[in-house]
Amino acid sequence: MAMRISNKILEGLIKQANRELSASADYLSMSLWFADRELPGSAAWCRAHSEEERNHGLKIFDHITKRRAKGALVQPIDHAAKFNFGQPVDVWKFALANEQTNSSAILSLVKQARDENDFVTENFMQWYVQEQLEEETAVMEILENAKRVAETNGLYVAYDTQIVTKPH
Ligand SMILES: [Fe+2]
Repeated sequence: MAMRISNKILEGLIKQANRELSASADYLSMSLWFADRELPGSAAWCRAHSEEERNHGLKIFDHITKRRAKGALVQPIDHAAKFNFGQPVDVWKFALANEQTNSSAILSLVKQARDENDFVTENFMQWYVQEQLEEETAVMEILENAKRVAETNGLYVAYDTQIVTKPH
């Protein structure tokens, strides 16, 4: 019975899908912040990443559909985040913190699936475990470079042109 899914796991998957969509909205807002400050490289990276997060959310919804789960809902996004950052470094710090929170949520869901012997969900979520490692690495690299630029009084606008080529 690969389709069988508990209500708790279903709820966990729905929450995770909504978290991914919320991350998508956050990256779009970060993109706006950069675009407003004439930093097109950073804006483009955040916009492309917003698209990735949306696809991660949809991938979970597709999975939920396959499990023939009833009652799956897209929740309105509680968009409490404020985007009144002072410096580019603050934006990347915010992005990294978000990615780390998301990783914790994913690992909890994997643990929950394992505890329930739901191997289908555990297997499905492995892709997200690996993806979070890639994303944390990508954002941390940009953040560390942005910090170095700030510390050496370098111009973020020069670094900005390189960001668009960075991995996601
Ligand atoms: Fe992410």
